[in-house]
Formats: sequence, C-alpha cells, structure tokens
Amino acid sequence: MIQQQTVDAVKLGDAAIDENTKAMLEKLKIVTVIGSGTMGNGICHVFAQSGFNVHMMDINQAAMDKALVTIGKNMDRQVAKNTLTEEAKQQALSRISTYTDMAQAVKDADIVVEAATENIDLKIKIFQQLDQLCPEHCILATNTSSISITRIGSYTKRPGKVIGMHFMNPVPVMKLVEIINGYATDADVTNTVHALSTYLGKVPCIVNDYPGFISNRILMPLINEAILSLQEGVAGVEEIDTIMKLGMAHPMGPLQLADFIGLDTCYSIMNVLHMGFGNQKYAPATLLANMVQAGFLGVKSGEGFYKYTPGSKELVVSDRFKNKGWKI
Ligand SMILES: NC(=O)c1ccc[n+]([C@@H]2O[C@H](COP(=O)([O-])OP(=O)(O)OC[C@H]3O[C@@H](n4cnc5c(N)ncnc54)[C@H](O)[C@@H]3O)[C@@H](O)[C@H]2O)c1
Repeated sequence: MIQQQTVDAVKLGDAAIDENTKAMLEKLKIVTVIGSGTMGNGICHVFAQSGFNVHMMDINQAAMDKALVTIGKNMDRQVAKNTLTEEAKQQALSRISTYTDMAQAVKDADIVVEAATENIDLKIKIFQQLDQLCPEHCILATNTSSISITRIGSYTKRPGKVIGMHFMNPVPVMKLVEIINGYATDADVTNTVHALSTYLGKVPCIVNDYPGFISNRILMPLINEAILSLQEGVAGVEEIDTIMKLGMAHPMGPLQLADFIGLDTCYSIMNVLHMGFGNQKYAPATLLANMVQAGFLGVKSGEGFYKYTPGSKELVVSDRFKNKGWKI
C-alpha cells in the first residue's frame, strides 16, 4: 500500500488522482529496482520519496552503499531548498532496503524497474530470472535507453506485462518518463505505468517500440555527430559545446552530456540504432569506441571529454583534447 503521506512531505504530480487511478496504484505495494548505479539510485529516490516501499537490488553491495549515500546527499539538497522536510527525508530513506539476492528482492514485488547495465544479453538474463522469481501479477518494467522492449518481453512468459519505463538523468530532477509499449504490452499495464509516473510527479509520454524510441533516436545521433566533428578536427571540445549551448540554447553541450550519460551507454545505444535500422548513418564514431575501450567513460570513470575532480564543479577539458590544431 502506498503509505500515508503529508502534503509537505511528498511532492506529488500536478494531476489530481481520481478513484480509479488510486485503486490501480494501491495495488503497487512493493517496488523493486534492479541496479543501483547512476539511474537506479535516482529511481529508488523518487519512489521512496513518493511513499513506496523500495527494494534496491544490485550484485554489488558497494554500489548500493554508494547509492544510499548519493540519495541521502540529494535529499539534503532538497531539504536545504525547502522542497523536502528533514522528517520526510528520514521516512523516505527508511523505506529503502538493499538486497544482493534477486529472489529475496522480488518475491513480493508488484512492479520491478530494471536499471542494470545497458547490455542486451544481461537484460535478457535478468528478465528470464525475474519471470521465474516475481509473483505472477508483477509488472516488469525496464529503464533501458534503447534495447527492444518486445525482444526483452519475448524471453519471458508474460510479454504483456513487460514495458519500458525510461526515466531521465538525474531522475529526481528530470520531469520526463518515456513509456515504451512493446508489441505485446497489455493496455492496462501501460495505463498503470502512466498513472504511476504521474503520481511520482513526472510527465509521461507514450511511444512505440522502435530502436532508440524517440529520446535516443534523436539525441544520440546528435552526440555522435559532435564526437565525429571533434574526431575530424572541425573544432575543439569547448568550441563544440559552446556553439550548441549559446547557439542552440541547449543547457549543456553534447560532449559534456555524453560524459554525464556515460560514454559506454552512448556507445551501446549507437550500436543498437546501427544494428536496428541497418543504416550507416548510425555507425558510432571511432573516437567514441576508442574512448570506451580505453575506459574513458566520462563522469563515472573520472575522465571523458572533460576531466572530473571529486568535489570540484569546474569544467576542465581533458588533456587529451587540449592544444589541438583547431586552436589558433
Ligand atoms: N546514464 C543515463 O543517463 C541513463 C539515462 C536513461 C536510461 N539509462 C539506462 O539505465 C540503465 C542503467 O544505466 P546506468 O547509467 O545507471 O548504469 P550504471 O553503470 O551506472 O549502473 C548499472 C548498475 O547495474 C548493476 N548490475 C549489473 N549487473 C547486474 C545484475 N545482474 N543484477 C543487478 N544489478 C546489476 C551494476 O553493479 C551497476 O551498479 C541502462 O539500461 C541505461 O541505458 C541510463
């Protein structure tokens, strides 16, 4: 059951919740989030803040310890801004429990949101396990950025209950949830996830299952083109990002955004688009492939197009991209 909330404790969506929606959402007692990395911690944060009991599951206990610290710090920021009370923060944190054993984490789950590493073989394996371990009524949602929902669903005995619930990074801040209907997804599952997203304070948009859906079909070629421009020496890191920020009013340049998303994630999404459409225009830039293979993954590894020092907010271009020929 969604726990009783006080208005100042929980930030709800703008939409009024009617009786039907309330009845639908009250069936969702336990939410299990698989994966506690960049996205998993944010997804746990918003569910816990909205009153759900959250089971966080990861194969890596250290990742979950780090995720709990991140959630606490992000909630501290909300407290400082008076958008969350200290009491509500403590209540939200107390609703999150951690598991390294999937069977334990999902045995009572009403909905699972999978946010593990973006890798098709891994997701298929996880969904096969979830299908065996979760109660029959449980909805199996994935936060995948690009992998086919229909394909993931086809490896389960409940493809009607498999759906894309694509949160954006950083989850507590970004309003959008892109809901992706697999070919076999049941309409009532789509309705439930739509209502749930609204309840979490998000704005859901429903799309169909084609490579990259809408968000990454449009965003990733933009990022890849910025990387190709850098690779060809058309301009430097700062110039490319400044042009897109000041010229196109993007809040963040595409190279900084790629670092923020994770270059490994960008690379695997480009590969999905390339394979899915069979069109050369989606081929990932060689520079992107090289950086991923060398372990320069952006913010999460400490260096990508920029260099990141813990505790510093200064944006410093990586030494590898300094003093190139485009600087006069
Ligand atoms: N990073 C973004 O900006 C972004 C945005 C939207 C969607 N996504 C999607 O969200 C998902 C997660 O991305 P991320 O950036 O949080 O990745 P991440 O690398 O930060 O975290 C992945 C986590 O999954 C865990 N994991 C790996 N195998 C597992 C398993 N078998 N069981 C449980 N946990 C497992 C890892 O230990 C790690 O903690 C991906 O599908 C990605 O495409 C990412």
